[in-house]
Amino acid sequence: MNIGLTYDLREDYLAEGFSEDAVAEFDRSDTLDAIEGTLRELGYTTDRIGHVKKLAGRLVKGDRWDIVFNIAEGVSGFAREAQIPALLDAYNIPCTFSDARVLALTLHKGMTKRVVRDAGVRTPDFAEVKMLEDVGDIRLPFPLFAKPIAEGTGKGITAASKIRDRSELASVCSRLLEQYQQPVLVEEYLPGREFTVGITGEGREAVSVGVMEVILLDKAEKGVYSYHNKEKCEELVEYRKPGDALGKKAEAVALAAWRALDCRDAGRIDVRADNNGEVHFLEVNPLAGLHPEHSDLPIICTLYGISFLELIRRIMTHAVKRVRPV
Ligand SMILES: Nc1ncnc2c1ncn2[C@@H]1O[C@H](COP(=O)(O)OP(=O)(O)O)[C@@H](O)[C@H]1O
Ligand SMILES: [Mg+2]
Repeated sequence: MNIGLTYDLREDYLAEGFSEDAVAEFDRSDTLDAIEGTLRELGYTTDRIGHVKKLAGRLVKGDRWDIVFNIAEGVSGFAREAQIPALLDAYNIPCTFSDARVLALTLHKGMTKRVVRDAGVRTPDFAEVKMLEDVGDIRLPFPLFAKPIAEGTGKGITAASKIRDRSELASVCSRLLEQYQQPVLVEEYLPGREFTVGITGEGREAVSVGVMEVILLDKAEKGVYSYHNKEKCEELVEYRKPGDALGKKAEAVALAAWRALDCRDAGRIDVRADNNGEVHFLEVNPLAGLHPEHSDLPIICTLYGISFLELIRRIMTHAVKRVRPV
């Protein structure tokens, strides 16, 4: 089976004139090497395509694949993660992970919370700040938490994201609006333990591959799993199997959200507890990072004795069901 690989590689964008800073979020070549090597070990033939514009060129040229393994998050627009799956849909080529509709929804954390909440899953109350004047209308109880509405990897998240009063709220929102040029999601702050849950499969067949508690060490930025803490996770964060009732609750909340959102193949859901021991949905990562040692999903798998090869094998087992015989 011939598998195309789509991704946003740092080198490709640097070659197009992007700055080092602008490419910081893109895939490192060792992630791609690991995925490609593992797919070959599993007996697949692979073909590196690259980002959405390279895919468009190859499709127009007439190239086709049985399935595309897609880890590209895209560059611009709220639907940036959906662009490749949508383009592939137009050519009837299946791809791994969630479809265009899901990826367009889930990049927007506010819209996603509306869907999850409608399905009866707990998520902190929230407001969307589209312009600074919106701050005056917010009636949520402090402390609050503010973050860009459509970013990942801890972008825009620091110790200052936890907000104690209205003047802090205005200054943090003003900075985030300016820096990220998108609305700010303002939520009730959850003071409890934090977990991230790895999930494979879809619908009724979706299962948790493991739940991992994120424990910030003394030297870490306090109270938030921020960009800084994520980047330096080897020194600042401890990842632990919870092994108690709250961990089980985290898995149940994550699975309910995964099913409500129609996510597929594999990904991660972040949750956090409130003061009453209830677990709330924070966000879903339907294109979770796949660096074998540095990304949370493979780290969860390692904690639970699932090798990187086994993770990729499970993703492919689910995804190839969508390949139609010609
Ligand atoms: N409402 C909240 N209350 C407390 N902490 C939060 C809240 N929202 C986010 N955080 C903290 O910020 C981190 C990053 O937020 P998240 O929405 O997962 O963004 P990202 O996409 O950058 O991972 C979380 O892992 C958590 O530590
Ligand atoms: Mg997160």
